[in-house]
Amino acid sequence: MIWPTAELHIHIEGTVESPFLVAAARRNGIALPTYDPAELSARYVFADLQSFLDVHYSNLTVLRTERDFHDLALGYLERSAAGGVRRAEFFFDPQTHINNGVDLAVVFAGLTSAVQEARETVGISADILLSFLRDLGPDAAEETFRAALPFRDQFIGVALDSTEIGYPPSLFEKVYAMAAAEGLHRVAHAGEEGGPEYVWEALDLLGVERVDHGNRALEDPALVERLRAERIPLTVCPLSNVALRTAPPALKDHPLRRMLDEGLLVTISSDDPAYFGGYVDDNFAAIEREMGLTSVELATLAANSFVASFISDEQRAGYL
Ligand code: ADE
Ligand code: ZN
Repeated sequence: MIWPTAELHIHIEGTVESPFLVAAARRNGIALPTYDPAELSARYVFADLQSFLDVHYSNLTVLRTERDFHDLALGYLERSAAGGVRRAEFFFDPQTHINNGVDLAVVFAGLTSAVQEARETVGISADILLSFLRDLGPDAAEETFRAALPFRDQFIGVALDSTEIGYPPSLFEKVYAMAAAEGLHRVAHAGEEGGPEYVWEALDLLGVERVDHGNRALEDPALVERLRAERIPLTVCPLSNVALRTAPPALKDHPLRRMLDEGLLVTISSDDPAYFGGYVDDNFAAIEREMGLTSVELATLAANSFVASFISDEQRAGYL
């Protein structure tokens, strides 16, 4: 069954399917290790987060033009709408593209026009979250934020991604305060590879409204209690966790089971579907099949995604 859902943890750059990658590389004259899409995809075997990020960032040099960003986002929105997604809040990494020599205006123009087009053609509601690359540090994040302010009406919040260990949320307190002062939503990856202290810092120092991943929060009972009491959503990505070995290899052993039993506000997302074996509907199908979740649990996960989304209460009422 296809569950109507909101996808809240999705990197638009992680939806770059191999055929798209090859077409963009040819169009823009960018070298790839192979131009055979199947051969490219066959290389997507990862030991950890960093080994994925290395391939991911290298692939992203193919994205150059407004059309590239438009087609990428539209492709994702159409594919996910067909898989039940009614609302998407997707991240993009401005620093990756700026560092590849692409103007921020080009990136925004492509993404924003795709959001508008998909709303009209497939009826999906979508908004954009601007994500900082934590391994580039706080000064670069602040500089990027200032560069993005002229486009303030084209994104609804800020996020934090990339290499987690060694780059704790505390480094980004100032840029998150700047975002809060602009009335932006705030989320951050925490507890994917980093320990519970990363989740505490994201909550206490960055003021995040949702935690992206949050798996390692389960190691700290006081943190679990906080997440439960304050109904702080976790955007959990089961297929991603298996692919990046941040969860046990068998999905049946995924911490999602315990998160549900602990009464946490868990949602399901795909993270980087071009790399990890599927979109949000594929994640739902996998957890149903491998974890034996009941239809009541699956319906709860789907409903949670609308509860956790940054839509208005009026819009939310229409989905729930
Ligand atoms: N960037 C893209 N996917 C990511 C993930 N799963 N964790 C951190 N940064 C990312
Ligand atoms: Zn992610």
